[in-house]
Amino acid sequence: MRFGWMVLVWGFVLTACSSGEEGKQSRELDSMLRSMSVPELVGQMNLVNSPSKEDEESFLNAIRRGEIGGVLNENNPERIELFQRTALNESPKGIPLIIGRDVIHGFKLIFPINLAQAASWNPDLVQAAAAHSAREAARAGINWTFSPMLDITRDPRWGRVAESFGEDPFLAAQMGVAMVKAYQGDSLYPESLLAACAKHFAAYGAVEGGRDYNTVAVPRIDLENIHFRPFREAAKHSVASFMTAFHELNGVPATANRYLIQETLKEQWGYPGFVVSDWASVHELKNHGFATSDAEAAHLAIGAGLDMEMSGSCYSGELEKLLAEGKISRNQLEASVRRILEVKMKLGLFQYDERRATIAQRPPRKGEDLARELAVQSAVLLKNKGQILPLKLESIQQLALIGPLADNRYEQLGTWIFDGDTLLTVTPKMAFTNWIGANKLLYEKALANTRSADTRGINAALEAGRHSDVMVVVVGEESILSGEAHSRAHLGLPGAQTKLIQNLAELGKPIVLVVMAGRPLVLSEVEPFVEAILYLWHPGSMGGSALVDLISGKRNPSGKLPITFPQTEGQIPIYYAHKNTGRPVDERNHVPMETIPERLFQTSLPNTNHYLDIGSLPAYPFGYGLSYTEYAYSEPHLNSDTFSRSDTVELTFILQNRGSFAGEEIVQVYFRDFVASRTRPVKELVHFERVSLQSGEEKQVKVAIPVQALGFYNEEGNYLLEPGEFYLGVGPNEASIQYQTFHVID
Ligand code: NOJ
Repeated sequence: MRFGWMVLVWGFVLTACSSGEEGKQSRELDSMLRSMSVPELVGQMNLVNSPSKEDEESFLNAIRRGEIGGVLNENNPERIELFQRTALNESPKGIPLIIGRDVIHGFKLIFPINLAQAASWNPDLVQAAAAHSAREAARAGINWTFSPMLDITRDPRWGRVAESFGEDPFLAAQMGVAMVKAYQGDSLYPESLLAACAKHFAAYGAVEGGRDYNTVAVPRIDLENIHFRPFREAAKHSVASFMTAFHELNGVPATANRYLIQETLKEQWGYPGFVVSDWASVHELKNHGFATSDAEAAHLAIGAGLDMEMSGSCYSGELEKLLAEGKISRNQLEASVRRILEVKMKLGLFQYDERRATIAQRPPRKGEDLARELAVQSAVLLKNKGQILPLKLESIQQLALIGPLADNRYEQLGTWIFDGDTLLTVTPKMAFTNWIGANKLLYEKALANTRSADTRGINAALEAGRHSDVMVVVVGEESILSGEAHSRAHLGLPGAQTKLIQNLAELGKPIVLVVMAGRPLVLSEVEPFVEAILYLWHPGSMGGSALVDLISGKRNPSGKLPITFPQTEGQIPIYYAHKNTGRPVDERNHVPMETIPERLFQTSLPNTNHYLDIGSLPAYPFGYGLSYTEYAYSEPHLNSDTFSRSDTVELTFILQNRGSFAGEEIVQVYFRDFVASRTRPVKELVHFERVSLQSGEEKQVKVAIPVQALGFYNEEGNYLLEPGEFYLGVGPNEASIQYQTFHVID
C-alpha cells in the first residue's frame, strides 16, 4: 500500500516537472488526500520540535504512524537523515518531512544582523548572502527556513528590531524579496533548496511600548499601507509559507485571526502556500483570553485558516475529536494538507535521493569575502569630525583598542545564531593586530561586558590611552540584549560604558567610537566626547576585518540608516514617513525650554506637533550615513509637470564626488502625495540605488518611476491612485532632499 503511494507520488512529481499538466497533478493530489486517514491528515499539520535522545524512539514511532509532518530545531545531518528515511520508508504514505530551522542571518558563517543588512541598501548582496546560508543549511538536511522576517518596526526598544529590515515598508520589501529569491530561486527545486517563510503575519513590529509579545492596535489603513506591504510582495514572489505572530491584533490574536489569514492572505491575495503558527501560539489563545480550552483554540485557529501548528498539541490532540463532533469538516483538513503537500512536492522532497545528490553537487563556496563585504556595506558612519577617519597608519606609533566588544568572538554575531561557528569569527583585535602589528597595539577590555558597572578596569584602559596616539573604543550591547523577548526601555550604552568613554576623553586624545548593537542606541551622552562614530550593528563573523577595511581607508563607508535614531527614548515612535498633522512643526520656531519666560501666556509658543524639551528632530534621520568623500546633488528635473496614471515620471540629476576618495553613494528617491482621500505621509521612499563615483567624477542619474507606484491602499485593500499634486525628490537621506512638484491627472 505504502509503496503504491510512493510510486504514485513519484509519478506525480515527474509528470509535473516534465509536462506541467496542472490539472492532472491536482487530481492526483486530490486522490492522495482522499486516501489519507484522519490521523495522517492531522499529522501533516503537526510541526514538532526535535526530540531528546531519550525520546527518539517514541518520536520515530510517531513518524511511522504518520503523526508528524515536520520537524524543527534539528541541525544534525545524521538525525535528519534518520527521520526522513523513517518517514519515507516506514510511514503509511511515505510522505517526507519538512525540516525547519531559524536560518536568519547565517548558518555556520554569520552575516550581519538583518537590520544591518538593510543598512547596506543592497538587495543583490543580501541575496548572495542568504543563498550562501541556504546552501550551508541544505547540506545539513534542512529544507525550510523561518525567514525572512518582514515586520516593520518604528520602535528600537523592541528587541526584534535586530531581525527586522527597519522602519520602511519599501526598503523592507526589497530586502525580504531578495531573501525569498535566494532561498527559493524561481522554482523551489532543483534551482533552490530551502522553502522560505514570511513572518510574523502581521504588524508584530507595532507591539505597544516595544515590549515583545505585547498587544497591537493598528488601524486597517495602516495595516494595508505599512505592515502588509512587504508581506504582499513576498506573497507575489511565491514565498512558500507564512508564519502567524504571537500578539493580538485589534482584539483578535494573529494565530486565530480570520481576517488576516483567511480573508486577506488566502482569499484577497490568492496566496497558495501554507500558514504555520508561531511556537505554541495556538495554546496561547487561552492566555490571550480568546479560547477556553485547547479544543476551542484548535477550532478557532483552523477556522481562521491556520494550516500547521508549530510545537503544540492543539491540532494533534483535538482536530480528530472536532471532526467527530462535526465542528470541523474533513474538507478543511484536506485543504490545509493540500497546501503543505504542494510545498513538499515543489521542494523535491519526494525525490529524496535525487535531491540529496543535487545538494551534494552544490556545496557552499567560501563565504568569508561575502560576509566581509556585507559587513563593510552595512556599517554606517555617523560622525567624522575633522576627517579623523580614515586613520593614517604612518602617523600612528601606538593605537589603543579598548572596550568589552573589541575581542569577543561570540557577541559580535548578534541574535539568532543557533548554528553559528565562533571559530570563523574575526574580532577587531585580531584584525587590528594583522593591520598594524601587535607591537603597535595596546588592547584593554576595560569592562567585563557591556552591562558591567565594575569600573576597576578603566584605569588600565586610561593607561593604554595615555600611551597611544588614537583610541578606538568598541562598545555596544551583547547579542543577548536584542532579539526575541529582549526589549529594553533605556537605549543608552549599558553599564559603565558611558563613564569609560567620558573618562578616556579626559586624556585629550582622539576617540573613534565603534558601536556593535542590535538596535539604534541613544548616543547623546557620548557623542560630544568622540571624534568619530562608526555604527557596525552586530556585524557577524567578519566584523573585525570589515572594521579595519573601513578604519584604514581601504574601503569607504557607504551604509545608510534603515531606521531613525532618536535623541532620547521619549521620542519613540519617531519615523520619517509621519503624517503632516493639522499643526505641522517648523523646527526653526522651536523655543528652547530653558528660555521660556515664567507666566508666559499659554498660546505664545508655537502650538505645533513637537516636544517642548527636545523639538521634533531625531539624532540621525532615516537614510543618513557619511562617507570619506563628499557628494553633491544637483537640483533634480522631471520630464514633465503633468502625468497621466499610466505614465512614467523621469527624474534626472547630477551626482558629483567632490572629495578625494572613490565611493558609492546610496541615492534615495522620495515622493509625496499632498492631498488624498486618506491622509498620506509627508514623504515615502519609492526608489534607491547605489551609484559609484571616482574622486572628482560626476554622473547623470536618471530614475524612472511609474506613476502607478505612487498610490495607496484603502481600508478594504483596494489600490487607489488619486489625481492631484505630488512631488518627487532625491537626496542623501530623507531630511536633505531636493524635489520638484507635478500633477497627476485623470
Ligand atoms: C519563535 C519566533 O517568534 C519565530 O520567529 C521563530 O521562527 C520560531 N520561534 C521558531 O524558532
